[in-house]
Amino acid sequence: MNVLVTGGAGYIGSHTVVELLNAGYGVVVVDDLSNAKADVIDRIETITGKRPAFYEMDCKDKDGLRKVFSEHKIDAIIHFAAFKAVGESVRKPLEYYRNNLDSAMTMLEVMEEFGCKKFVFSSSATVYGPNNPHPYKEDMKAIESSSPYGWTKVMIERILTDYVTAHPDFCAVLLRYFNPIGSHDSGLLGDDPNGIPNNLMPYIARVAAGQLEKLTIFGGDYPTPDGTCQRDYLHVVDLAVGHLRALEYAKDHEGVEAVNLGTGNGVSVLELVHAFEKANNMKLPYVIGPRRDGDLPAFWADAEKAKKLFGWEATHTVEDMCRSAWEFAKKSAGK
Ligand code: UFG
Repeated sequence: MNVLVTGGAGYIGSHTVVELLNAGYGVVVVDDLSNAKADVIDRIETITGKRPAFYEMDCKDKDGLRKVFSEHKIDAIIHFAAFKAVGESVRKPLEYYRNNLDSAMTMLEVMEEFGCKKFVFSSSATVYGPNNPHPYKEDMKAIESSSPYGWTKVMIERILTDYVTAHPDFCAVLLRYFNPIGSHDSGLLGDDPNGIPNNLMPYIARVAAGQLEKLTIFGGDYPTPDGTCQRDYLHVVDLAVGHLRALEYAKDHEGVEAVNLGTGNGVSVLELVHAFEKANNMKLPYVIGPRRDGDLPAFWADAEKAKKLFGWEATHTVEDMCRSAWEFAKKSAGK
């Protein structure tokens, strides 16, 4: 079975490509390298001993995608490629809507031309919006978001749902990720954003490597046990394996399913900082600063559906996540 992975050179995409190759799938990667590095493909080959076919291409390039589908028999898509910075999306809404919606729809159009009917979509817990109580369950009715980035996920979920209504023999799996962190055990793949990181773990890793002076914790006065926000952090390799399970499910099912990929546990920013210090035997300089606009105090997954539908559950501990994140950051910083 051949799988086309868009955004396959990115953080979650690259870990998923490794799991797919190790499981014996043929993999074709399409990535425009706008937020990834070309040597990730070499690293994937070093880890797996197999090299995925690679096209440096924007997913909005319809003729380009047609060429990919003509050159490979594609049986399923895992669609990661998207802009993903929440704050930037507030400043550049048109770019986010154009890029994220256009690439998903172009992909669907080309899939239809070539008779490909399996779509695994990289969605997000952000679609539960600001008003649902946690833990978040897939059947919650209010699906909305508080940023243009998040709305692109809501809208693509809607587009896929309507597409399945019109084409009942199509299968779309909407994977709602919680907060992936950590790295592949090899230390060769990880979260290495361009510029100053927006997300917590890559920021922590750069502080640990001495590349940033200290972590600012956004808010210490939330209504949570220690006053800092709680999230459901899961190991990126668990998340990657979740995509394999979703693909296996899609192989012999039709219709649309939204599925959470999380651990079901809430961990606070301070708890994560202390877990990182303990796992890696170091001190992290931090200060508590003001809240960041748009952050919710706490949310985590109800993780039962993934278990029931796919037989998937997260297996790595917070300590595993912290240790592997540092292994990767250390190598990247040349330490
Ligand atoms: N945080 C800090 N300091 C930092 C960075 C983050 O204290 O320098 C805190 C945030 O305030 C938040 C927690 O760490 O409480 C996690 O923040 P991240 O930015 O790592 O993750 P978010 O939960 O904000 O964002 C994630 C995904 C988005 C998704 C969003 C909502 O990255 O794609 O969840 O589901 F939209």
